[in-house]
Amino acid sequence: MHEFLKRLPKVELHLHIEGTLEPELLFTLAERNGVMLSYASIEDVYAAYDFSDLQSFLDIYYQGMSVLQKPEDFYALAMDYFRRASDEGVVHVEMHFDPQAHISRGVGLSTILEGLNLARQEAESELGLSSALIMAFLRDRPAAEAMQVLESAKPYWDILDAVGLDSAEKGNPPEKFSEVFGRAKQIGIPRVAHAGEEGPVDYIYQALDLLDVCRIDHGVQCLQDPALVERLRNQGTVLTVCPLSNVRLKVVESMQAHPLPQLLDAGLVVTINSDDPAYFGGGMLANFMACHQAFGWQEAVFCKLAANAIDNAFMGEVRKAQLY
Ligand code: ADE
Ligand code: ZN
Repeated sequence: MHEFLKRLPKVELHLHIEGTLEPELLFTLAERNGVMLSYASIEDVYAAYDFSDLQSFLDIYYQGMSVLQKPEDFYALAMDYFRRASDEGVVHVEMHFDPQAHISRGVGLSTILEGLNLARQEAESELGLSSALIMAFLRDRPAAEAMQVLESAKPYWDILDAVGLDSAEKGNPPEKFSEVFGRAKQIGIPRVAHAGEEGPVDYIYQALDLLDVCRIDHGVQCLQDPALVERLRNQGTVLTVCPLSNVRLKVVESMQAHPLPQLLDAGLVVTINSDDPAYFGGGMLANFMACHQAFGWQEAVFCKLAANAIDNAFMGEVRKAQLY
């Protein structure tokens, strides 16, 4: 099964590029940029990756980003990830990036996008790996700040495949960002949002009704509400589910207890994704393998999941046809 899953052309719809920062690169960039880390060794770093919930992860995730300062740092981050992903059979990656987490440290959009775009071009030409860009707003920051970021991104609007909504979910409902997402819609930028990861089902309704999203990131809490499940099934709304992330952030107790089989049985459009592979114990292949081990899924299920991701990617029809 490992060989089959490695060869299966996999499309990743839910990845935070800052969540691909492996400890080795963290140390290299810290030294290059003169950043003091609170870890003495790589073992120390892994010991700190013992999360109790989403917030305990986010605290460490934002701390790690302090080493990303120049275009070449963002280039190294993305290129390292693209190489690892390509090695495990990933053919297309849709990556969230968190501009506010960088702008607040004096690192501007042009720095971030210069590095990421160079890596994306190289991944395309050298690895045959295509990608899409999702500019995410931090939901625990003010909506006015998100609006400012969206307006200041004007020179890049045409290269943004979507805007997204991430960071600490509880207490930060989608409705807070209605205006920002309304503006993105007016500009013509597609929208996705994290909802129902840790937060209540009402946040999934809000993301659909107030933010007009085409995908729900996570969404695993939807099973609490049969009427919502029916709506998601009827609309064919895709859920970008991240099983290893859910286990590591204690959204679920274990892989065996993960609701993925129920989501599939309910007829929902499910995809499997890695979220923050450097922090959660592996990338796409590890997530697929964990599903095989926990649920006993065989080839046909994984082919369906891979096809769901292709169908719902921000990808031209020619590329889709290539991947089928
Ligand atoms: N940012 C990075 N990973 C995230 C997650 N799993 N949930 C919310 N925001 C995130
Ligand atoms: Zn995420």
